[in-house]
Amino acid sequence: MKITFYGHACIGIRINDIHVLVDPFISGNPKASHINIDTIAADYILLTHAHQDHILDVETIAKRTDAVIVSNYEIASHFGAKGYHYHPMNHGGSWDFNFGNVKYVNAIHSSSFPDGSYGGQPGGFVIEGEHKNIYIAGDTALTMDMKLIPMRTKLDLAILPIGSNFTMDVDDALIASDFLDCDKVLGYHFDTFGYIEINHDKAKRKFFDCGKDLMLLEIGQSIDL
Ligand code: NI
Ligand code: MN
Repeated sequence: MKITFYGHACIGIRINDIHVLVDPFISGNPKASHINIDTIAADYILLTHAHQDHILDVETIAKRTDAVIVSNYEIASHFGAKGYHYHPMNHGGSWDFNFGNVKYVNAIHSSSFPDGSYGGQPGGFVIEGEHKNIYIAGDTALTMDMKLIPMRTKLDLAILPIGSNFTMDVDDALIASDFLDCDKVLGYHFDTFGYIEINHDKAKRKFFDCGKDLMLLEIGQSIDL
């Protein structure tokens, strides 16, 4: 499994030869101006919620790639009504895709579309594929529901928001990693806007001091799991 950080909350995941793209927000992110959205591969686009900073580039990418849009019922149907391929899910449900199993799990946040219309309830994804298991939290507060995830799935990596203001901060992400029983964390949803700027060294140090690993990738950088 190869994981690429495209900035903000956008993650590319390659499982076998299938490309899964999560929450594409690239063209609106000045920090990601070196990423060309016209070359990003996507067989599936997973969306955690309907906020602009998670769906901005969905249609541009889906038009070119014919990707299947996977999200909660309201978001998936919204894109389905516009003619895109879609797969609706809801909280607690999972599905075996050709790259692995995906479960839509709880998040504490909100989920309106940019025009204010209803985008269902926000979520995160647990993905089991190629003998690796990852959790993508989406935008969320720290929540006790995270404790449910390791009851079913032994995680190899947790991708957690750490920028505060709109989501958890680094200290809550540290507690989340306990709840998730996963010491390997990839931080996201930080630095994009003034509200969510963080001190990288301090953040990594906090994890290191607890015997855990917080990875912060450069935009465009990948890791192999
Ligand atoms: Ni959001
Ligand atoms: Mn967000």
